[in-house]
Amino acid sequence: MKVRFDASGEVLVVTGGAHGIGAALARGYAAAGGTVAVLDVSPAEELDGVEGIEQYRTDVSDRDAVLTAVGKIVAAHGRVDALVAGAAVQPRTPVVDTRPEEWRRTLAVNLDGVVWSCQAVLPHMIEQRSGAIVVFASGLAHMGRAEASAYAASKGALIPFAKSLAAEVAGHRVRVNTVFPGVIDTPQFQAANPTGGEREHWERTTGIGTPEDVVGPLLYLLSEAATMTGSTLTRDRAFGKG
Ligand SMILES: NC(=O)c1ccc[n+]([C@@H]2O[C@H](COP(=O)([O-])OP(=O)(O)OC[C@H]3O[C@@H](n4cnc5c(N)ncnc54)[C@H](O)[C@@H]3O)[C@@H](O)[C@H]2O)c1
Repeated sequence: MKVRFDASGEVLVVTGGAHGIGAALARGYAAAGGTVAVLDVSPAEELDGVEGIEQYRTDVSDRDAVLTAVGKIVAAHGRVDALVAGAAVQPRTPVVDTRPEEWRRTLAVNLDGVVWSCQAVLPHMIEQRSGAIVVFASGLAHMGRAEASAYAASKGALIPFAKSLAAEVAGHRVRVNTVFPGVIDTPQFQAANPTGGEREHWERTTGIGTPEDVVGPLLYLLSEAATMTGSTLTRDRAFGKG
């Protein structure tokens, strides 16, 4: 079966789109004919010059910066159809050693950053009476992980946030869903799992997917085919090495 998504004439904002899953999505959405605005703190040389992809250097924890970037995107393209809020950090620190600055920073990026991104795009989506938002949870929201409490807490908070927002904006025909992408080999995964033993653990238990593995599920959630809102879509495991 061939699957085709048509994003022509549509505009996606993807936060954290310079690397990992967000960068794969940016390429996939542009390949489907859409325009992508990447909001990230770091540049992505490999996305430079890719047709349909623009980069806006933005720290999602800075509400004013996010509002300004989205204002520029709407001024340039006249609309915003989709938001995938992927920007996140995952420090590995025991609770007893966690400094207030690190705790606040993790929640400021992973949780507040999603809220500010939603605030920035929603007025335009509400005016258009259409839009799709996807936020990322994580299996760690349910399982927890030693030395990842701030990350797990931020991801756990996003699930009821997304469900609540979905209820608020359903009447405006804006959909808000949450994705559990599975264990995916990205810079964040590599930094959080630096040893061969950790990698072997995930290979054995869930398999390790590629960023490209998540593009189809994300494009589906952004498409009109996905009529659900307030839902979670879970990729439980990767195919692995077989
Ligand atoms: N990779 C996995 O196994 C996995 C599993 C579950 C959930 N997720 C979630 O999927 C999403 C994408 O993760 P990934 O693995 O591709 O991560 P990644 O680290 O490869 O990419 C995250 C991006 O966010 C950017 N970023 C960090 N702080 C930022 C800030 N303050 N403002 C703007 N951008 C910022 C980084 O520069 C990077 O480009 C994240 O929300 C992550 O928590 C990933």
